[in-house]
Amino acid sequence: MRSAPDAVDVHWDPARALPDSDPTRRDLFLSLGAFVETCLIVAAGAGLPVRAEVAVDRTALRAARLVPAPAVYESPFTPEAVRRRRCARGGYAPGALDPAVLAALTALGADLRQVPTRSLVGPLAEADRWMFGTPEVVAELRDWMRLSPRHPRYHLDGLTDRAMAMSRVEAAGLAAMIGPRAYPVTRRLGGPVLLAAASKGLLRYDGTVLVLVGSAVTPEAVIEQGRTLLRVWLALSERGLAVHPLSQLLDCAATSTALAARLGLAPDESPLAVFRTGRPLREPVRSARIPASQV
Ligand SMILES: Cc1cc2nc3c(=O)[nH]c(=O)nc-3n(C[C@H](O)[C@H](O)[C@H](O)COP(=O)(O)O)c2cc1C
Repeated sequence: MRSAPDAVDVHWDPARALPDSDPTRRDLFLSLGAFVETCLIVAAGAGLPVRAEVAVDRTALRAARLVPAPAVYESPFTPEAVRRRRCARGGYAPGALDPAVLAALTALGADLRQVPTRSLVGPLAEADRWMFGTPEVVAELRDWMRLSPRHPRYHLDGLTDRAMAMSRVEAAGLAAMIGPRAYPVTRRLGGPVLLAAASKGLLRYDGTVLVLVGSAVTPEAVIEQGRTLLRVWLALSERGLAVHPLSQLLDCAATSTALAARLGLAPDESPLAVFRTGRPLREPVRSARIPASQV
């Protein structure tokens, strides 16, 4: 974020983007939208009248400007709700999403399609095989994952073994298989199949996966969908429900196309975010955040 006279600009850092895992920048713009919505909710909580002008400038790497508004942003959500929101990547209690909750989410402006968890066991395995079998994607994963507390950035950012609900042994095994020297061998020996098998249990329960559907024709449209996604996650969180994004289902072209076909999407509609939701069996671990002084 950068302060301009009478505005705060929201930029992105290209060094923290994932060009190989997210070549269309879908997740980048969704995340920026989620961040903009979070800023508006926090500003409203502080009584500051702020609105967002969403306009992407790819040269300046700017996604939006937060500017003074005539009135405080209206939102049903509070900064406390932002603090409470969690991603949970471990086990969930069985049970499909209550239709009344789905109706409440739709009322927030989200086009959400519901898919039973078990029906995505095969597609998730396929997407994971693609993910672990693609060297450029594995390199980005390796950079972003924090598989040991000894990692120098363990408490700063990235996805830790604890946030991924992995045991120390599982984390050490994964680190050994995708390490820069071991990975070419792992890949030749069929490691991606083994690694994908590890996540098979993730969807083997009776639960709900939600797919956010929308237009991806412009980056601004995707940013707006990211704002909606954050509202949906907060609304679920307020009901004690966590989310677990499974973006590899969209990053892998084959599973993304199959999902769009299964949902009967029109040519101008895309699956933008896929996540399971439910009541986590254990209190999830929040990801580390870079302290403001080090941003
Ligand atoms: C658009 C988007 C896509 C995401 N995709 C994934 C994903 O595929 N796998 C995953 O584990 N987390 C995914 N996440 C979750 C982020 O890793 C997580 O929200 C972030 O690290 C903040 O952590 P917290 O929710 O634990 O506080 C995604 C988040 C967003 C906004």
